[in-house]
Amino acid sequence: MNIKRVKLVYYSPTGTSEKTVKAIQKGIDIDYDIVDLTLPDSESKNYTFDSTDIAVIAVPVYSGRVPPVAVKRISRLKAQNTPTVLVAVYGNREFEDALLELKNITEPNGFKAFAAAAFIGEHSFDTPETPIATGRPDAEDNKKAKEFGEKVKQKLEKLTKLDEFEVPGNHPYREGGKTGGRNPVTDPDTCILCGMCARVCPTGCVTVSDIVETDTSNCTACSACVKNCPTGARHWEHEGVLKAAKWLSTDYAKRKEPEFFL
Ligand SMILES: Cc1cc2nc3c(=O)[nH]c(=O)nc-3n(C[C@H](O)[C@H](O)[C@H](O)COP(=O)(O)O)c2cc1C
Repeated sequence: MNIKRVKLVYYSPTGTSEKTVKAIQKGIDIDYDIVDLTLPDSESKNYTFDSTDIAVIAVPVYSGRVPPVAVKRISRLKAQNTPTVLVAVYGNREFEDALLELKNITEPNGFKAFAAAAFIGEHSFDTPETPIATGRPDAEDNKKAKEFGEKVKQKLEKLTKLDEFEVPGNHPYREGGKTGGRNPVTDPDTCILCGMCARVCPTGCVTVSDIVETDTSNCTACSACVKNCPTGARHWEHEGVLKAAKWLSTDYAKRKEPEFFL
């Protein structure tokens, strides 16, 4: 197939899906554009893809599914018979139905999956006290991501048409997590009111004036504000999240490795 451009599409609140997709691109090694769906302003833009593009779409896994905000933003993309690589990035627990859901939401809009992969990223709830895949993707992951990109390119060069392509997962999907009802909090003593938490929030649910306020109903628990806070003032106190972090840190301590579906 004759491909002119790669389009790297990602929703990546804490940056691991972004890093992974960029490492895959190193292996594909064709000129590329970026379609970053992480922030709310992406909803006012229109993105189109044609049959001479290859789309690489990466999302984090939330409760074994595609995060609802990503579903909404990805469903707005318009493609035309565009060869597509699906990538799920998960925090060393499981990716369950995320790749299947990603395939099912992209296909009706003209994306044709021909390759997929699951990679591991540092868990959004990782802390020094509850480490979960800390620092991933690391050098080893990046090497594998590049190898995957090379394999994707080789497969595409040999393809004459885009056949039906299967990815792991079950339908009906696993029940997804809820949005709203849990959010990080800010320690007023160490907060410098820099506004970083508001700028990196994918749903725009944080506002900063002389205090930091969070619209709990819109918080997806993505932890972008926590991981980007320059003073560590933004942190989790929510009991459910702290409990989950402890459970994940003990029960999923064994390193998992990326999986390719080609
Ligand atoms: C609300 C929520 C649910 C999550 N659910 C899962 C899960 O089901 N399985 C898993 O392994 N990791 C899970 N994670 C961890 C993320 O998939 C992981 O940290 C990923 O690398 C984040 O991607 P990003 O850096 O692109 O935001 C979850 C994270 C959050 C915030």
